Amino acid sequence: MLVVPPNSIAKKPIGVTILQQPLVLFRPADGSIAALEDRCAHRHAPLSRGRICDEPLECPYHGWRYGADGFVTAIPAFPAGCPIPDNLWVKSYHCREQDGYVWVCFADRPASEFPWQFPYLGDRGWTNFHMKTRFRAAVETCMENFLDCPHATYVHRFWFRSPTAKPVKAVVRSLPDGAVAEYFREPRKKSLIWWLLTRKESKMQHTDRFIAPATTRVDYIFDDGRHYIITSSCTPINETETEVYTVMTFKVEMGWLVRLFFEPLSRFIIHQDVKILDLQQANVNRFGKAPYKFIPADLLAPYIVKWRQAIKMGTEPPAPGAEHWVDIRL
Ligand code: FES
Ligand SMILES: [Fe+2]
Repeated sequence: MLVVPPNSIAKKPIGVTILQQPLVLFRPADGSIAALEDRCAHRHAPLSRGRICDEPLECPYHGWRYGADGFVTAIPAFPAGCPIPDNLWVKSYHCREQDGYVWVCFADRPASEFPWQFPYLGDRGWTNFHMKTRFRAAVETCMENFLDCPHATYVHRFWFRSPTAKPVKAVVRSLPDGAVAEYFREPRKKSLIWWLLTRKESKMQHTDRFIAPATTRVDYIFDDGRHYIITSSCTPINETETEVYTVMTFKVEMGWLVRLFFEPLSRFIIHQDVKILDLQQANVNRFGKAPYKFIPADLLAPYIVKWRQAIKMGTEPPAPGAEHWVDIRL
């Protein structure tokens, strides 16, 4: 399942690219969502440049009309009453709108009826905001970055973390849909964001979770009831570009006030990641692709790689129930 832009499909079709595949998304009159290949069967004009009509999508070139199932429903140049040949169609995709996002499935049949659900969206006591960020990096690279603590002490020094060299224990567990890492007694010193968002004496529980194939979820739970969740869903545009939809959901008193500084700060921090992944990708381009080195502190990266490889090859992903402990310093 892949997630694509929210809320923008009102009166006009929109064009998006996922996995190098141009798609047109549009809303038929019944208010549902449809996704077709963005190429008219006639002379291959982009359907995303057409318009919504009763039938419900019209090509901008000769006005052929398409139904949500991709079949041509009307051809203006045909004499009245002339039947439409049934070989005139474009590929259609399963899609579903949920939580203000549109999810498109490239498989013939979706693995589940409902896509991934962003946690606590709209729930009482919870505040949220959304970010859309384009990374010049592969999905795997983005997900590793979102779930990687050691980089934060360098890339986000002072803003989010600072290196303290404190020993921290972490446990990594494989799950039926990915893997999760939990950290114990990690430092929160010299961090602007934790200084602003938490009480000094509160205790923190932190988990980083990879949810196959392309979602990450980070939870910070405090014993005073505060809870911050960062969920990122990654849409691969091509092999080295990813659109990331991040939902920040948090439970804290006066969430609207917290959001006023939390949102710009989060955008600033995510752009630090954009910059470092840009540098990384530029260097991969300079040298060519070669295997990375992995160390035990790269807690979830091996799971991300193995899972995505298994999905690609149709083989078994890592079995759930495994657990290992790692000593790291943060
Ligand atoms: S190219 Fe679309 S109708 Fe001719
Ligand atoms: Fe980061």
